[in-house]
Amino acid sequence: LRHLLTLEGLPADLLTHLLDTAESFVPTNRQAVKKLPLLRGKTLINLFFENSTRTRATFELAAQRLSMDVLNLDISTSSTAKGETLKDTLKTLEAMHADIFVVRHSDSGAAHFIAQHLTPDVAIINAGDGRHAHPTQALLDMLTLRRHKGDFNQLKVAIVGDILHSRVARSQIHALNILGAAEVRVIAPKTLLPVAIEDLGVRVFTRMADGLKDVDAVIMLRLQKERMQGALLPSEQEFYRLYGLTSDKLAYAHPQAVVMHPGPINRGVEIESAVADGERSLILPQVSYGLAVRMAVMSHLIGAQVPQP
Ligand code: CP
Repeated sequence: LRHLLTLEGLPADLLTHLLDTAESFVPTNRQAVKKLPLLRGKTLINLFFENSTRTRATFELAAQRLSMDVLNLDISTSSTAKGETLKDTLKTLEAMHADIFVVRHSDSGAAHFIAQHLTPDVAIINAGDGRHAHPTQALLDMLTLRRHKGDFNQLKVAIVGDILHSRVARSQIHALNILGAAEVRVIAPKTLLPVAIEDLGVRVFTRMADGLKDVDAVIMLRLQKERMQGALLPSEQEFYRLYGLTSDKLAYAHPQAVVMHPGPINRGVEIESAVADGERSLILPQVSYGLAVRMAVMSHLIGAQVPQP
């Protein structure tokens, strides 16, 4: 694999290999994983044209743990504000001998565009492009599910909320189907469902009581208001009443069902605080696994030999 732009079409054994590699970077106690010299002398440039806390910070930490040099380009103070095109900015950074660009952009397809226009010596990792894909988020979600719920072929998973605007949902659906999940469901009002979403291999529900029945994991999504201009949508209060994950609604799921959310969460909009902070919530473990997954992806793209535990 030269770039990680999407999970769509990747083979199951590659996803399993990345998850297995990530396992070797998950600390066995609460301490941080030790710094390793695996990618010493390599350089990562974080290029975030959209806001981020988790993805940007874990890529930076992951690179530091692999002994890479890291540059976080501050887009708001870069020469893009003087009219420099994306392509020229990237060519300029490429001339600084970067090995990996981590790219987040509001346009679907931005990471593909960049991969096409730079030399193949630079590996591109898509850190979220528009509504299209967020592959490392889905991989960390798969690691979370595998560690806490076991084999995918026994798993029923429901993804709830703003499916229409969610790159995370698309990447999760691809990952779950590639890894052989027993059932992938989406639950949303019709206005937040993409056309022909069934074609991605999901069962579609519009009521929480039906869609959550017997599921092993519930993945909640944020309402992506920044992508909703002019759309006919429920109010936050109406959305919370019908789709917000409260303790009462969680009772429809399997009694041992876990709760996940890629973050950032909006308490009282898509999730109740008692559920987000409750004992079945894996929201913070997801963040920790993100570090391990990003270390695994970068090691794989650069071709480092990761010692097995
Ligand atoms: N899940 C996720 O992508 O979070 P950030 O926007 O904080 O990176």
